[in-house]
Amino acid sequence: MTTALERIRTAKRELGQDVVILAHHYQRKEVVEQGDFVGDSYQLAKYAAASNARRIVFCGVHFMAEAARILARPEQRVFMPDPRAGCPMADMADARDSVVALTRLREMAGEKRRIIPVTYVNSNADVKAVVGHAGGLVCTSANAPKALQWAASKGDLLFFLPDEFLGTNTANGLGYLPVARWNPHEADGGLTTDKVRAARVIVWQGYCHVHTYFTPAMVAAARLKYPGCSVVVHPECKPDVVAVADGLGSTSYLVDAVEKTAPGQTVVVGTEVNLVLRLANQYPDRKVVPLEYSLCPNMYRTTPEKLADLLENFDPAREITVPEDVVAGARLALQRMLDL
Ligand code: 13P
Ligand code: SF4
Repeated sequence: MTTALERIRTAKRELGQDVVILAHHYQRKEVVEQGDFVGDSYQLAKYAAASNARRIVFCGVHFMAEAARILARPEQRVFMPDPRAGCPMADMADARDSVVALTRLREMAGEKRRIIPVTYVNSNADVKAVVGHAGGLVCTSANAPKALQWAASKGDLLFFLPDEFLGTNTANGLGYLPVARWNPHEADGGLTTDKVRAARVIVWQGYCHVHTYFTPAMVAAARLKYPGCSVVVHPECKPDVVAVADGLGSTSYLVDAVEKTAPGQTVVVGTEVNLVLRLANQYPDRKVVPLEYSLCPNMYRTTPEKLADLLENFDPAREITVPEDVVAGARLALQRMLDL
């Protein structure tokens, strides 16, 4: 029987330059191996914007494929092997609630403050559009400090959504304090006018369950088990975990940190487990261990079988589209990031 990998190889040979396969670092190993380009969300967005392929196949989660769709030319088409692969954190903020929050924050902050919104790329396209129209920009974990600095040069109150922890960790790193939390399920975000007026950054109360799973006790246990190890974590982790880690940074930073670990040394990595296990395989001369097994079930939805099905049929149900009225605002916010 023909295997999925054989079907993919045959389809790729037949399709040639017509198709490019982009794979996020968190994809399972067998999918990453089929990628023409593998990267973090920032690298993949840039690659999609520059690609000449007529069809872009995105192995990742929905907001990433949406970003590729927005940045690609109109005649290009973007597909996902499984379009149901979403991101629960992205779904924690919708456009309507984001507009309500921005409007209310402007009223509470008073006329003298100018609010600039910054949305993590892990957000749906309509939220990016709200942010773009309000003079803000998109960031990824790789450029969050730069994006916040850009926003701080345009206004004096920053509104970061939807990841409370990337927002808080980045603000802490830059000394943009105090940080207040907007709870979208409470009136006025659960904040008072005084709290809003005192704040430098307001963060939306959203989170990634894959990264908030990590705890300081796990870091302590790793240090006991691997004396002398270094511990590096993704900025979607909670600040109490960041406080006890040796390094903090985006997916590309974590890949780099493993690459720079000397042979014979141990590095413990607090991020999605598929990436960590792949790095462990890639660098057998050093010990690369996951802080704990924490898997993104949405990233895991993409399988070689689904990729093979897509490459053979390009079923329109797997095509990613973004409503016309959303594209312009979302592109504005994404382009501001790419121009940083
Ligand atoms: P990167 O922006 O580092 O690729 O990560 C995306 C993501 O979903 C992290 O959980
Ligand atoms: Fe979303 Fe977290 Fe999965 Fe990244 S790891 S796609 S933030 S659920």
